[in-house]
Order: sequence, then C-alpha cells, then structure tokens
Amino acid sequence: MLSILQYPDPRLFRKAETVLEVTNQVREIVLHMAETMYKSAGIGLAATQVNIQKRIVVIDISEAKNNLLVLINPKIIWNSNKSKTFQEGCLSIPGIYEKVTRPESIFCKALDNNGHEYEFNAEGILSVCVQHEIDHLEGTVFLDHLSKLKRNRIENKLKKIATHSSLS
Ligand code: NI
Repeated sequence: MLSILQYPDPRLFRKAETVLEVTNQVREIVLHMAETMYKSAGIGLAATQVNIQKRIVVIDISEAKNNLLVLINPKIIWNSNKSKTFQEGCLSIPGIYEKVTRPESIFCKALDNNGHEYEFNAEGILSVCVQHEIDHLEGTVFLDHLSKLKRNRIENKLKKIATHSSLS
C-alpha cells in the first residue's frame, strides 16, 4: 500500500506530468493506486496524492467496489453551465467535509490501462469525483473552491488537529 500525502504537504501542490506511454510500469502504479484507494475506503485517488507526479487517476464509485475506472491523462472536453453542490472529502484531508459547487455534468476523454483512448459522460457523484481528482493532478485541492472565510476556518481547524497530534 502506498502512503497518502497529507495536506498541506507541498508535494500536493505540484502539477503532474502527462504519461507519454502506458507501460507496464504505469500499469503497476495503477494497481498499487487502486489497492491503496480500496484499503483507504476512498472512491478516487490521484497519483499526486501518493507522490507520483504523473497524470493517473483511479476511481470506483460502485457500492460493491468492483468497477475500477482507470483514467490516464484525463481531460474534460466539455462541462455544463449548470452547476451542482455536493459535500466533498479527500483522503489527503481527513476529517474535513465541505460543500463544493462544480459543473453538474462533464464530457471527458482519457486513456485506459492499455493506452486506448475512450470518452465518457459523467454526472452526479462520478462527475464530482473526476473533477476532484483532476484538480489534484493540477496541484489543487477541493479547499481551493471554498470562500476565503471558510478556507481560513478549516486551515485553523487543521492546525489545531496537527498541534494536538504532535503533542500526543
Ligand atoms: Ni482528494
């Protein structure tokens, strides 16, 4: 299992590089990322979060955790003007859940595990998840979507948690 960087680790703010070829090494990363996501009970994980600066995302929003989506070099081609608000959390920012407003539906393309390009529509939780994970590849986190006031409140809360855990 890979270890997940915890906010505000500066490595979370780096922009990931395009995958030039889907090699066995890339497939191995995908495998380890999926394992890490499942063990952490997350529904999505970006390579940035496990300190791999490549544009790789794994997602599984299924109840049975048997529908792994692999997105290599994912790109949002189109997004709806209509937006929707969902409560989001992040494996890199445990314990923080906040409402984030994003485009409701998106049309994307990505490469699969074999390096084949595919396109898909996403709405609902899948749309949220894809956008959240692509943010990670860009070096941003869901907190960047919040108001300054809300953001400050969360930063203070996180600082308090960090102080407490270093004392114990
Ligand atoms: Ni996240």
